[in-house]
Amino acid sequence: MGSSCSCCGSEKVEEVPTSFGVANNSWRIFTYKELHAATNGFSDDYKLGEGGFGSVYWGRTTDGLQIAVKKLKAMNSKAEMEFAVEVEVLGRVRHKNLLGLRGYCVGDDQRLIVYDYMPNLSLLSHLHGQFAIEVQLNWQRRMNIAIGSAEGILYLHQEVTPHIIHRDIKASNVLLDSDFVPLVADFGFAKLIPEGVSHMTTRVKGTLGYLAPEYAMWGKVSESCDVYSFGILLLELVTGRKPIEKLPGGLKRTITEWAEPLITKGRFRDLVDPKLRGNFDENQVKQTINVAALCVQSEPEKRPNMKQVVNLLKGYEADQGKVTKMRIDSVKYNEELLALDQPSDDDYDGNSSYGVFSAIDVQKMNDPYYKRGDNKKI
Ligand SMILES: Nc1ncnc2c1ncn2[C@@H]1O[C@H](COP(=O)(O)OP(=O)(O)OP(=O)(O)O)[C@@H](O)[C@H]1O
Ligand SMILES: [Mg+2]
Repeated sequence: MGSSCSCCGSEKVEEVPTSFGVANNSWRIFTYKELHAATNGFSDDYKLGEGGFGSVYWGRTTDGLQIAVKKLKAMNSKAEMEFAVEVEVLGRVRHKNLLGLRGYCVGDDQRLIVYDYMPNLSLLSHLHGQFAIEVQLNWQRRMNIAIGSAEGILYLHQEVTPHIIHRDIKASNVLLDSDFVPLVADFGFAKLIPEGVSHMTTRVKGTLGYLAPEYAMWGKVSESCDVYSFGILLLELVTGRKPIEKLPGGLKRTITEWAEPLITKGRFRDLVDPKLRGNFDENQVKQTINVAALCVQSEPEKRPNMKQVVNLLKGYEADQGKVTKMRIDSVKYNEELLALDQPSDDDYDGNSSYGVFSAIDVQKMNDPYYKRGDNKKI
């Protein structure tokens, strides 16, 4: 990507849009002027939401393409080259369940990333947000979302070079196209922010509720951190509950704490989202909960890899024998960690604790988890 790297090294915004790739898979450099016009000057009316890295706006290009523009918070100028390298890596990622790049724009102090607009927004908006009441996610769609997202993550872990660990698998990062096909978003850019990439092993980025214990405590990053987060996502899909819910009196409960007694007693029907009104396949529910239980095991080495997860979710014979986990590891965050969590703007009910906490020093995060019941540290 020689030509685009030289652009990023420049202090000026590239004026002439340049195309790369072919047909629908192509991405290009956008001018700031173009994105400004497409989003009506980044107007609040066009804002789709806000995340840890900046705001996302809906837009339409002059050739009619609907886009989502992520305007990153100001970045350190030293990060320019990393940005270019990252864009190059992401520009090569092609999978039906990954939201690839449509383009980017680099200005004096702006970084903007352009994606295709996903008309059904995020899984979060359907499970807990503005679309929750419409219940468009029937059981079959939920299963397709589970399998599709797993396939997208599998591609990141095993098929793309270099391999990519997402580190922020969660419902707001699973976007849904017009047919409710899931596209996992926001892989790759996490490590650009904050400045530099060299300290990521000592800092944690993620979303409370989805973080694997070893990552939260020691910043130990591996593919199995994504597997853990995916397990939480599976529980969320089946139960319709948030990863962390606020109980009356201010106490907070994780989804694993809630699910644990029901799973132990084999009360699978009681785990399912009541919004489905009993319309689900009970065997698939059991299978999915079992996969979730395997994914959220405290010890990372015991978790399945994403290939096994995909096979299990699809019900392939070969992996059936591994589904014997009828208990779930339940973790509880300590109060200190919960206090660090900030609600995100996706908390439509204004009553949840479900935010982003970026780049918290691991040293400040001693023992964020302990095992329920025996208080054993993990
Ligand atoms: N391509 C897109 N099409 C439609 N909506 C989008 C698109 N990209 C992002 N959004 C929505 O914009 C909102 C903000 O997204 P953003 O990725 O910035 O934050 P987030 O996912 O909540 O947190 P994080 O920064 O950890 O990814 C989310 O509700 C997301 O679903
Ligand atoms: Mg996101």
